Amino acid sequence: MALLEVTEIDARYGRTPALHGVSFGIEAGEAVFVVGPNGAGKSTLVQTIIGAHPPAAGAVSFRGASITGRSIEANVRSGLCLVPEGRHVFATMSVAENLRLARVVSSDTAQFQEDEERVLTQFPILKARYRGSAGMLSGGEQQQLAIARALVQRPTLLMIDEPSLGLAPMVTDGIYDMLGSLRESGLTLLVVEQSTARITDIADKVLVLKNGRIAAERTISDASDVRAIEDLYFASV
Ligand SMILES: Nc1ncnc2c1ncn2[C@@H]1O[C@H](COP(=O)(O)OP(=O)(O)OP(=O)(O)O)[C@@H](O)[C@H]1O
Ligand SMILES: [Mg+2]
Repeated sequence: MALLEVTEIDARYGRTPALHGVSFGIEAGEAVFVVGPNGAGKSTLVQTIIGAHPPAAGAVSFRGASITGRSIEANVRSGLCLVPEGRHVFATMSVAENLRLARVVSSDTAQFQEDEERVLTQFPILKARYRGSAGMLSGGEQQQLAIARALVQRPTLLMIDEPSLGLAPMVTDGIYDMLGSLRESGLTLLVVEQSTARITDIADKVLVLKNGRIAAERTISDASDVRAIEDLYFASV
């Protein structure tokens, strides 16, 4: 049984369709990439899974139970988290306050402190800037904060919408090194990106999303699979 199962999802904004019959599964421990151009429906897909945008049709299940239409809070409590596109870090608030916003799961203070301490050990820069305002962090550090805020919630499956957005390649390298270690530690990942550039690093499976539909899906075991998915990406334009 897959950890996450998305079945025949349709999503709309008013009368405008954004996703058509999208189906795929993610096994526990996998890193799955969804790549697709601007406007393909990638953000809509993760927003639908997390419960921010109810699907017009179809079903989502997590750990074998239906979560279709369930609230974001209930999903987060059950171990499903999303780092949204554009990070949504609160610039005028401190790093500490931004992390505290994640206290959906740890209502108990001691538990929260333990979760926060664990995450700050993974992100030394956030520990160093703990009392400083998040707006003073660089783009890469803000991305770390957005990911840290999700990790405080102890996810089983972490979805990240365009982690490389607006970041220099070297900074993106650092973010992907960190995602690689999270995956090594057993976290299941669903990563959304516009390009295929980063799939070599950590992907087990790649889905190409075009015009709201899955145009291709491929398991990645070596570099030839990466080349094949690049060809499929460009062929399906
Ligand atoms: N709030 C909204 N209201 C109306 N239409 C929307 C809204 N959000 C997205 N759309 C439309 O839905 C489609 C899918 O958008 P979505 O943001 O999911 O794409 P995306 O693949 O994440 O794109 P990007 O790579 O630019 O982030 C697009 O045609 C977009 O214009
Ligand atoms: Mg998007």
